[in-house]
Amino acid sequence: MLATQDDVAVHRELVERLMDARRQSDALFALVREDALYERPIAERHRIIFYVGHLEAFDWNLLHERALGLKSWHPEFERLFAFGIDPVGGGLPDDRESDWPGLNVVRDYVEGTRSRIDERLSGGNAEYGVDGASLNVLLNVAIEHRLMHVETLSYMLHQLAFEKKVRTSEVPEPTASRVGAGMVDVPAGSVTVGLTRGGEEFGWDNEFEAHSVDVAGFAMDREKVTNGDYLKFVAAGGYKTRALWRDEDWEWITGRGISHPVFWKRAAAEWHYRTMFEEVALPVEWPVYVSHAEAMAYSRWVGKSLPSEEEWQRAASVSGMHGLFGNGWEWTSSEFKPFPGFEAFSFYRGYSADFFDGKHFVMKGGSPVTAECMLRPTFRNWFQPHYQYVYAGFRCVNR
Ligand SMILES: [Fe+2]
Repeated sequence: MLATQDDVAVHRELVERLMDARRQSDALFALVREDALYERPIAERHRIIFYVGHLEAFDWNLLHERALGLKSWHPEFERLFAFGIDPVGGGLPDDRESDWPGLNVVRDYVEGTRSRIDERLSGGNAEYGVDGASLNVLLNVAIEHRLMHVETLSYMLHQLAFEKKVRTSEVPEPTASRVGAGMVDVPAGSVTVGLTRGGEEFGWDNEFEAHSVDVAGFAMDREKVTNGDYLKFVAAGGYKTRALWRDEDWEWITGRGISHPVFWKRAAAEWHYRTMFEEVALPVEWPVYVSHAEAMAYSRWVGKSLPSEEEWQRAASVSGMHGLFGNGWEWTSSEFKPFPGFEAFSFYRGYSADFFDGKHFVMKGGSPVTAECMLRPTFRNWFQPHYQYVYAGFRCVNR
């Protein structure tokens, strides 16, 4: 089938966005000193080197047969670098540094994979509509998957010791709240959640299908809870008050000796905050970044609750709320579940479906590191309730 001029323009734009996403992921790996690339800054996740190979293996596994008519060229690495990990139940990976291939071999694999993909993408040989998905959808998946990893890698590198990083470029920081505290009344009404299938806009499988939800009236914090707000909870003994925590959350904080957000550090009598490259005095006006369990405990302490996903979406559709997108994800009380009419992507069955397990909670909005294309109202993110490393905070509701 002959491609129209519009098809060609859209294709070119997507290829340019993929190149730009590669520049971003390359820049992030360049923050890590070479001798630290085999470290594991977060115990629950792979070593950094895995992600160097993973971003390319993912694109290759997604595109080579479905869209580019290419045969496998490195089956060993296509398997080794295929999947990230999100262990539930506390099991931690125990691989050793020596289990992984050397840096030069991995870098050759990255180069070899990119050149094979690019030759096809730029030569106009790519095919459309293979395996129930258009090349445009597949390219969007490759772009957003990489950009999501740029964010999750940022969390990971955030936890890496300062002396193992090089300050090559600035990393976006949160911004202070500007309009002040208070709550906004959100009247009862309906809100449309999700994306309509068959439309122009790209969305992941879990964003479909659009449906209308009736939401009772409630009031929601105008701003996210700040470090300064949260400090009051810490100072009042919030982490020592059993009644504020669910059983499993209490077990978690006491078992791990957790007594404050992971981004905070107590030095002498002062609270400090760890940014990507340095320790600063606690920025009290920045939104606090905490796990779901910590957000829940705080909301109980102030006699409020976390919003459900639908309430958050409804609040985003009325005026008066401040800073909903791009200053930190916002935890909701909703377990991550499929919308009515959900269909897994045929080419990436597990993207969402592997996490409909009652052990993950929905986050909305986006952080300072979230790519602009994903700061859309329908985008859904999700994490386990005891994962402290995400650029995620919250606001509370009164029902
Ligand atoms: Fe991935």
